[in-house]
Amino acid sequence: MIWALLALACDGPAEEVPAIVYPEGFPELRVPADNPLTAEKIELGRYLFYDVRLSGNETQSCGSCHEQELAFTDGRTVGEGSTGELHPRNANGLSNVGYNATLTWANPILTEIEGQLLLPLFGEEPVELGAGAYRDEILVRLAEDPEMLARFQAAFPDDVDPVTWERTIQAIASFTRILISGNSPFDQFNYQGNAAALSTAQIRGLSLFYSEELECHHCHGGFNFSEASVHAGTVFDASFFQNTGLYNVDGQGAYPPNNTGLYEITADPADMGKFRAPSLRNVQVTGPYMHDGSMETLDEVIRFYERGGRLIESGEYAGDGAESPLKSGLVAGFELTDQERADLVEFLEALTDEDFLTDPALSDPFK
Ligand code: HEC
Ligand code: HEC
Repeated sequence: MIWALLALACDGPAEEVPAIVYPEGFPELRVPADNPLTAEKIELGRYLFYDVRLSGNETQSCGSCHEQELAFTDGRTVGEGSTGELHPRNANGLSNVGYNATLTWANPILTEIEGQLLLPLFGEEPVELGAGAYRDEILVRLAEDPEMLARFQAAFPDDVDPVTWERTIQAIASFTRILISGNSPFDQFNYQGNAAALSTAQIRGLSLFYSEELECHHCHGGFNFSEASVHAGTVFDASFFQNTGLYNVDGQGAYPPNNTGLYEITADPADMGKFRAPSLRNVQVTGPYMHDGSMETLDEVIRFYERGGRLIESGEYAGDGAESPLKSGLVAGFELTDQERADLVEFLEALTDEDFLTDPALSDPFK
């Protein structure tokens, strides 16, 4: 494990203690001033993240849709909530989510995890955890459990009654924020000076990934393989949302009506089909891919970029994404040999961090 929680209680009040040692090459996280990271809060957050009492009908936790061995996604095409309702979108993996400039697939306003969590907890379109009608009851469920109460008291020692929604959300956000993945073979090769960590095929794939012909790194660049990343001291740039030509339903670049991307928020026609470039860390285990889970394999994703957009020949969403007037100029298409395509897939697989997928400190404490 490359990072470790530190509990330096002797150095003064717990709130002021830095709780993280960052992997080589990783900048400091941006943490809200009113929710500093502490080891106790992170541990409480871990329990809450995996606790089905957080859902109205006690069937689902955050961990139901965000499973550790899948880098905190769920392997489904789209999310399925506690009442069986389907989400229009694929559940994001949560590797290094604390560095994301904005949260979810396409929302420029959601910039803090604390705010994002209100959606799965209380959202009604669609229902995810369905906690809205059970707000008071859920707090009672938690406060009546002596072990849970003790964890709240340890995390918020100055509170008379720490079992509140504000504290619950702060703790879950703290745990979510430290889901840091930085010990993949790529990291060992690139940041830790281990030249043997990548195979020759992976090194060939790396060269392709960073080539001007393929352009991948322009959108999936930096330590987090997403340009839409920020850390302490940086600001967000709205150009991080891109239309990659997945759909072109009407010849004008339209996307399916339930998934129009940034346009859904801004209503600016130029924002149709724009989504945030996701981090590619642990992408080997986060399929199916894209905002709607409409691609099964990495090979399929690469062939889509080769073609410079997706052709859907029949059905409701038929159209040629390569012809979309709204598509980014960086998705222009290119040609790869079978060997090169395989090399690129192998490089993407070198972003898999086995420690992250198995770290007991991030695992379900109820199992
Ligand atoms: C029903 C399945 C489901 C549940 C339960 C759920 N999520 Fe999610 N989560 C999703 C989906 C789907 C998205 C993508 C939403 C979108 O783009 O609109 C998402 C997105 C996120 C994101 C944004 C990630 C990013 O890359 O920006 C975070 C953070 C997150 N969830 C954390 C949580 C936490 C914490 C909980 C528990 C309070 C939770 N989720 C419960 C399905 C779920
Ligand atoms: C113009 C910016 C841009 C370029 C260039 C680009 N991508 Fe992407 N990538 C995106 C966006 C945006 C998405 C999400 C699109 C969506 O869901 O609608 C995405 C999605 C992906 C996904 C799916 C990830 C997931 O979690 O679902 C993979 C894999 C991927 N890209 C790999 C690559 C590779 C490899 C290249 C180079 C051949 C590349 N990308 C070039 C912006 C880009």
